[in-house]
Amino acid sequence: MKGLFITLEGGDGAGKSTQIRNIERFFEEKGLLVVHTREPGGTHISEKLREILLDNSNTEMSDVTEMMIYAAARAQHVRELILPALERGDIVICDRFVDSSVAYQAYGRELGDMVSIVNSYATGGLSPDITFWLDIDPAAGRARAAKAGDLDRLEQEKLDFHYRVYEGYRLIAEKEPDRVKRIDASDTVDNIRDNIYEYLDALCRSKGI
Ligand code: TMP
Repeated sequence: MKGLFITLEGGDGAGKSTQIRNIERFFEEKGLLVVHTREPGGTHISEKLREILLDNSNTEMSDVTEMMIYAAARAQHVRELILPALERGDIVICDRFVDSSVAYQAYGRELGDMVSIVNSYATGGLSPDITFWLDIDPAAGRARAAKAGDLDRLEQEKLDFHYRVYEGYRLIAEKEPDRVKRIDASDTVDNIRDNIYEYLDALCRSKGI
């Protein structure tokens, strides 16, 4: 694969959108083409599935159904948008990917190993070159998200759900330190950007970009 696949992860209110714009700027200044996308979503079909997933009126959705819809949205996104962009040599920046399903569905919903197995089919084995985990305390993140607007179906979950999600992210970062970089999201926006840029400089050097 010629391009680079970069993902951002973290609980709600971690400040992912601001840092995605900074990452875009980093690569655009190098004259590279950047594709900015998100999960669930990114394609017509996946955005329709997003509406179902986040709709507050879908109170009867079972946890397994939820996990499979996230995986279905991802399967379409990978094949229709992400892989073709990487094959062209573009930089793909994705707001959330499989780690979100592991954190929210395997740990938050306590579905366990089934989540990784289903998602290995959804991604066909595609894994990011680097993942930034914006680490924010769940209570602080939720307060920020609530201030920014109405909470969606997942955001409305109780705080203990969000603490399980947090523990999921912590374990993913511990298990895959080469790929997943923990970023202190309680720091200033500029310090967070500088921290991310250091990792991106190192990644570009290693890839000859
Ligand atoms: P967003 O608010 O960052 O756009 O993400 C939508 C919500 O979906 C967020 O609360 C996290 C959740 N989510 C999962 O539970 N599993 C997943 O696989 C993904 C991608 C998101």
